[in-house]
This record gives sequence, C-alpha cells and structure tokens, in this order.
Amino acid sequence: MSPLAAAVFAASAASPDIHSFGNAAVVRPTHLALDLELDFEKKTLRGTCELTLAYAGDGSQATVLDLDSRGLQVEAVTADGQPLAFERGPADPILGERLRITLPSPRPEKVKVAYATAPGATALQWLEPRQTTSGKLPFLFTQSQALHARSWVPTMDSPGVRQTFEAVVRVPAGRGFTVVMGAENGAHEVDKGVFRFRMPQPVPPYLIALAAGEIAFQAIGPRTGVYAEPAVLPKAAKEFEDVEKMVEATEAIYGAYDWGRWDTIVLPPSFPFGGMENPRLTFATPTILAGDKSLVALLAHELAHSWSGNLVTNATWSDFWLNEGFTSYIEGRIVEALYGAEFAEMELSLSLRELGTTVEEMLKEDAAGTILHANLEGKDPDDLVGPIAYDKGASFLRMLEARFGRERFDAFLKGYFQSHRFGNMTTGRFLEILKRDLFAGDEAAWGDAKVQEWVFEPGLPSNLVPARSERFARTLAAAEAFAKDGSLDLVKRDWSSPEWQDFVENLPRPMTPAQMQALDDAFAFSRAGNNEVRFDFLMHVARNAWEPGYAALEQFLCSLGRRKFLTPIYAALMEKESTAALARAIYAKARPTYHPIAVGTLDAVVK
Ligand code: BES
Ligand code: ZN
Repeated sequence: MSPLAAAVFAASAASPDIHSFGNAAVVRPTHLALDLELDFEKKTLRGTCELTLAYAGDGSQATVLDLDSRGLQVEAVTADGQPLAFERGPADPILGERLRITLPSPRPEKVKVAYATAPGATALQWLEPRQTTSGKLPFLFTQSQALHARSWVPTMDSPGVRQTFEAVVRVPAGRGFTVVMGAENGAHEVDKGVFRFRMPQPVPPYLIALAAGEIAFQAIGPRTGVYAEPAVLPKAAKEFEDVEKMVEATEAIYGAYDWGRWDTIVLPPSFPFGGMENPRLTFATPTILAGDKSLVALLAHELAHSWSGNLVTNATWSDFWLNEGFTSYIEGRIVEALYGAEFAEMELSLSLRELGTTVEEMLKEDAAGTILHANLEGKDPDDLVGPIAYDKGASFLRMLEARFGRERFDAFLKGYFQSHRFGNMTTGRFLEILKRDLFAGDEAAWGDAKVQEWVFEPGLPSNLVPARSERFARTLAAAEAFAKDGSLDLVKRDWSSPEWQDFVENLPRPMTPAQMQALDDAFAFSRAGNNEVRFDFLMHVARNAWEPGYAALEQFLCSLGRRKFLTPIYAALMEKESTAALARAIYAKARPTYHPIAVGTLDAVVK
C-alpha cells in the first residue's frame, strides 16, 4: 500500500458500526468512481461504481470485501476486467443486504461493481413532470442520510468510512436536464446529457447527493448561489440573499469554510426534510420560502454542518448528537450574528419548549430515548431526528458556554474542528478532549457541570440554561387574553415569525369551533404564508376536529412531503376515531406523492 493510502486508512477511524456490514477493520474504500445513467421511465439508475481500496497491513486478512447494499440489482463484479465471485446476504429491514465479494490474491487495488437501483430505492424520489412547477421534465433527487446511500451506491455505508469520489452522470440528451451533485462541477457536455463531478475532500457516503431535472442557477455571493426550478428561482434568490454573510459570520467564529463553494438547491415540495447538509450543496425544502427571510435559520443550520458533521463527523449513528447538537448550537450563533440576540433568543425559546414537552412525554414511555448518546440496537437512525439529539445536545453546549465564557468556549470549538478536520469522532473521544482542553482535567468542575448526566442519563439536567425572551411575555399575554374572553386586542400585526408561532402555540387546548373561527377570520392562519405558523394552527385544526379547517388541512398534507410537518398532523388526527377516517382518506390520496423515507415513517402512524 502506498504511504498515502496508508494515511487515508489510518485517518478513517475503524469504530465498529452496527449499521454497516462493511469489514472496515481490514479493507476500506477510499475513492469511488461512479458512472451512472438515469432512466426516468424505468425509475432506475444503472451503471458502475469502481471502488479504490486500502488494506490494513499487507491485506492478507481481507479475503472478502463486504459492502452495504439495499435492493441493488448487482450484475457483475470485476477487478482488472476479471469477474469476482459475490453473494448477497439476507435482507434486513433496517440495514439492507450485505454484498460479499471474494477478493483474489494479490489483493486488487480497484474493484468495479456493475448494478442497477431498485424502482423503490429508499434514497431516491422520482417525480413525474406534473409534480414539478413547470411540469416540463421529470425530477430526481437523492437523500442518503442515514442508511440510504446503500440503495444507490454499493460501498461501505458508514459515517466512519470517508471516501473521495468522481462521477459521470448521463441523462436523456437534448431535453433540458441539468444534473447537480454535492461536488465540484467538472466538464459537463450539456447537449449530450453528460455531467461530470469530482469531490476532492473525503466524505462519508451519507453525504453523497444528486439531483436532476429542470434546474436553473443564480449566483448570490462570490462563493454562494442557489439552484431551483426556474419558476422558483427568483423568490429563492431573494429569500437567501444573506447566505454569503452567513458564511462570513461562521468563519469569523470557527475558522475557514473548507469546502470551496456553498450553494443551495431548493427542491420540489416532496423533499422529506427541511434541509440536508450535502457538502458544497445544501438540499432544502421550498417550505422555508416565507417571503420575509423569517425561516432561513434552516440554512444557517445546514451551513453549520460544514464544520459540525461534514468536517468532524459522528463516527457512528449513536454519536448523532455530535452532528446535530453542535449544529443546532452553531445555528443559534449564526442567527444571532445576522438577525440579533433577541431573534435568536425567541427561536431558542421555541426549541426549548418543544424539548421540554418531548422529554416530559418520553420519560413516561421511553426514558432511554432521552439519552444523548443513543442506544440504537435494533433501531433505525432516521428516528433520531428530533429535540433530543438537536436541542438537548445544543443545550449541553450552551451550558458549557455559560460556564467558561464565550471567548474560551469559541476558541475550544474552533480548535476542536481544526484538529479533527476530515476525521470522525465518538462521544467517548469527544468527552476526553473536552475534559483535557476545556476543563484542564479539573475533576471537581467536571462533576459540577454534570457532564456524565448530560450525555449518558435520561431527562434534562438542572443546569440547563433557560431562554429568556421578553417579547414572549407579550405573545403569551395575548394568547391568555384570547382564552379568557376572546379578545384579540393584544395581538400586534407587526409581530415577527417566532412571535406568531409563540402566540399560536400558546392558544388554549381545546378550543371551541367559535374560537377557531374567530382566529382564522382575523388572521387566516390556516392559509398563512409562513409554514411554521400554518403548521402550528393546523395542529389545532386536527386536535379540535375543526371541520371548516379540513380543506386547508388536506391542501397542506397533499402539497408537501416534509416529515416534520406531516407526522405530527397525521398522528393528531389518528388520536380520535372521528378524525382517523379523515387521516386515512387523505393519506391514501397523498401517499404516492411522498418520498419513500416519509412513507416509511407515516405507514406506521396512519394504520
Ligand atoms: N442532517 C439533517 C437531516 C437528517 C438527519 C436526515 C438524519 C436524515 C437523517 C439536517 O441537517 C437537519 O437537521 N434538518 C432539519 C432542519 C433543522 C433546521 C433542524 C430538518 O430537516 O427539519
Ligand atoms: Zn442537522
């Protein structure tokens, strides 16, 4: 093995990952060369993935190469043009199937897999032209996190196994398709429908991303811009005009942005998440286009992952809070830098309220689920998305910030990112670094900060730093006045987005049809342009079984695929027999328009 390959091997830590079949302790892919053809009729990707391998020692232990796959139709595996024997393990509902390739001696430097994806590949959503804005072309996008890369790329799909990659992507020529990836653009031959990419920084497979369809681009700053369907582009570019400032603000605290460009693509509304931090190219839901930049904190979040997650990556999904808790903390710092402390504090207040109610409920049924360092035995890491990893994780860091002061804490985090860039991190190793570098080994201080409790015990430690928002005293008073006698005099038309959210979330439970009607007449919440406010109100529609709101509810559920909005609404409807039938009827209609990942979650909710 070359010295470089040995260095790459050593840098990608071999933490055992229960969510990968890869035999990474003895052999690891370090580079992928993809050549893929998109077939929009058959809804498959077909082509080859050539893996460059690094071996432990002389490679003698690596008699086989175990890769992850899910539903892939493997046509052949070769090394130097010679076929290699391979076999598929049984299908596991969470992990997919092991792809075991027998390695010859001497060990090959490269192995090529020829394959096609299954029509139901969990990472892929194939949209019909009518599901796009202009209706001209079909659309495809990927979502690889957490365990879905294996449904379109045969490799070791573990966050601890970093790989550089290059790709050739072929689409039907002459129809106006654009292909983008979370990678550098290479020499595209647009007329021939051939697009080339290269990703020189090593990334874990969950960050490999692709989208294709009728896509246009508009620059925002020197290294920032936005991709979207042409009809959405002007609105998106206006909404995202602060992105360059966001990068500058983050660099000022945590050091240089290491990925070259930072673009965002606004996907069609069926994208199952709010955002996904694909390197160089954030994927985002159009539901954040509120018209007043009020929901762009989501972009700050995805940008923050360029440090926490993409630069220093959770070694396994049990360490997910290292990705999302850190990112939620940094998101708050970016929002504060751009939009002020008062705004950031209101956003924090909303998150902490949700964290509080979630923890309270989970302590009754699934106390272990409130532990930061997650036990994922038998679980799908996709289910980790929620207030524990995100907001309990961020609260832990806020406690540390309060204890050591911003200056020292910022220097600590900056140094941490710098020392571990393009590496992986386990919870255990992070705590060692924290104790050594920030606590200077002071055991008494360590105990006093309750670090052990924060990371390994259920619930919320008593030293959580609460949010203090004076503005929320007014929104609460307005909600209470309405509850008391229906008065809306304290409601101010010029409230900001979090103030409206706070007001709607504090409305009485339950409400009478007359109360619901009065609110919707006064503010048209059920059709609000701000989707967070609209969602909060539609939750009241669902809980109160308020029939005049059903049309708006159905319209909402049928027009977007963001799991964070869909799941609570369907769950609230399923609670009462009277509304469960409505949920089932809407779901039957909308299910074909949802992404496989959202369907996976919702099938269990709407039974
Ligand atoms: N990386 C996550 C999305 C994710 C996590 C997808 C785990 C699949 C498995 C992304 O950064 C994220 O957290 N998105 C949030 C937005 C954020 C502002 C909280 C979302 O999609 O809602
Ligand atoms: Zn995130």
